[in-house]
Amino acid sequence: MQDQLTGIEAQAVAELRAMTDVRSLEEWRVAYLGRSGRLTQVLRGLGSLPIEERRTVGAQANEVKRRLEALLEEKEAALRQTELARELEQGRIDVTLPGRPVPLGRLHPITQVVREICGTFQQLGFQVVEGPEVELDYYNFEALNIPPEHPAREMWDTFWIDTGEGERNVLLRTHTSPMQIRVMEQTRPPVRVVVPGRCYRYEATDATHESIFYQIEGLAVDRAMTMADLKGVLAEFARRMFGQNRRVRFRCDYFPFVEPGVEVSIDCFGCNGMGCNICRDAGWIEIMGAGMVHPKVLERVNYDPVEYTGFAFGMGPERVAMLRYGIDDIRLFYANDIRFLRQF
Ligand code: DAH
Repeated sequence: MQDQLTGIEAQAVAELRAMTDVRSLEEWRVAYLGRSGRLTQVLRGLGSLPIEERRTVGAQANEVKRRLEALLEEKEAALRQTELARELEQGRIDVTLPGRPVPLGRLHPITQVVREICGTFQQLGFQVVEGPEVELDYYNFEALNIPPEHPAREMWDTFWIDTGEGERNVLLRTHTSPMQIRVMEQTRPPVRVVVPGRCYRYEATDATHESIFYQIEGLAVDRAMTMADLKGVLAEFARRMFGQNRRVRFRCDYFPFVEPGVEVSIDCFGCNGMGCNICRDAGWIEIMGAGMVHPKVLERVNYDPVEYTGFAFGMGPERVAMLRYGIDDIRLFYANDIRFLRQF
């Protein structure tokens, strides 16, 4: 029986040594150490031996069992180690390879300029609000002191919307000024808002005119506001936007909803006023229209024009972008040409 044990052990060890994968270890374990494995069978046979022999053979058998179990454990650890090494080798990635670049999107140049202008006014205490692009005649014209049939309407060629009622009442807003009225209807002074948004005009397009474009409106109303507030705020805006040394020029202009009305210009940032192709040798660049809110406009929204005064302004971000980036045709902004847009 002892020989039998030695034989079993030798054979088991040899088989185990030859094994190359973890899965076959289990078969080996069942064959030798399992419930009806060869070693277990020997141990079962012990009972039929005389007591003396039973002791020695029993001890030997347990020794063999212990050694085989230890070997199995060792072998399993070794195999797992090689398998892991192989997997690591096969699935190896070179973490030093440069990554594949993810193409970055960008904002449309007009969006960038709109955000910059609004951001500058936010720093000056203005709030940003938006309004409807489909407007009523009342807000776009009438409440802004532009009555029906008034010749001032010719300043805005209008897309009318056919409501089926035969009346001209609904339109695509021709400017952002109607939001002056909507904001004042909803709040009491002090008011400080800027209103970015799309506007529409029924006109032939050329290098400086589009039928769809943006405007940014501004409105500030409070007690004792004067032309000095208008000049101070707009000059500060111009310097923050176009350079700390900018000079600002105010000249009379006419808009029905302000009195007095002005056009606001800055000295050209291309030539500091000497004359160049940006300013067409004028030395000055017009950047917006503005004025003191007309008393009739204030009355319309039940603001007492004796107690409250204010100023308003309106500007075109396309124009700002064209001047700044030297773009000579406004139509490029909306042609959706990726070669153009990629440059910003
Ligand atoms: N809404 C005017 C336009 O479309 C621009 C404008 C001028 C707005 C003077 C104003 C202003 O608020 O005070 O041409």
